[in-house]
Amino acid sequence: MNRDAIGVFDSGMGGLTAVKALGEILPHENIIYFGDTARIPYGTRSRQTIQRYTQEDIAFLRRHPVKMIIAACGTVSSMLGADSPVEDMPFTGVVYPAARAACAATQNGRVGIIGTPATVASGSYENAIHTIDSAVDVTAMACPLFVHLVEYGYTDRNDPITRLAAEEYLTPIREAGVDTLILGCTHYPIIAPVIADIMGEGVKLISASEEAAKYAKQCLEEQDLLTDSTERGHNVYYVSDSVSMFRDNARHFLADAVNGQVFSSRI
Ligand code: DGL
Repeated sequence: MNRDAIGVFDSGMGGLTAVKALGEILPHENIIYFGDTARIPYGTRSRQTIQRYTQEDIAFLRRHPVKMIIAACGTVSSMLGADSPVEDMPFTGVVYPAARAACAATQNGRVGIIGTPATVASGSYENAIHTIDSAVDVTAMACPLFVHLVEYGYTDRNDPITRLAAEEYLTPIREAGVDTLILGCTHYPIIAPVIADIMGEGVKLISASEEAAKYAKQCLEEQDLLTDSTERGHNVYYVSDSVSMFRDNARHFLADAVNGQVFSSRI
């Protein structure tokens, strides 16, 4: 069981930011990734549609030998109910791990959240933060253009279009005086340098993808499910659309070529 993979899924390629973090934190673990590239974006869809896609994504991963499942997608994580959608193995989304990290990081009790329209409308991060610390003041902003800017490669720190969009979205959050900002969507860590520039020096950025990876490590440790292998883990990727498009665009998220086999698969 311990050598089974960690299953990770996302609406597309963005969840590779969590795969990257897992590779750094748990280098010996195998990963099976499912990216629903044929149906991205999820973040502009209704709750019912996102929940149906989520069930299908989880069912797909469960047909493979996985010992834990991570919903790397901020939008999916925001639509989950109180009960885990998987009863017989550890499961996490990205919301609780990021909320926990933000509450631990903030000094002035003011936290910002950015995510897709569906994520921000759900109030998920805000609810998770207030479950941990009801006194934290939260300012949230949907940043719908960020996903497209990252997917199309507008990721350079000095890119004028990305900086303009970031200035537009982030100014109200900066003016709210937050000292901590949750990057509540898979794609945002890729443009973290731009976000950091706009937010200013004193603001700590929390990557939901990284926090989910840290939380996964904690879950596997607690349940004695960490692999005993000492070799570098193997990754296998499944996508619902073209393999070549995935391989081309994955570089934006991994800062490297995909290390593993990639298959196209219907769910
Ligand atoms: N993966 C999504 C998220 O983290 C962003 C892309 C989408 O809208 O599907 O919210």
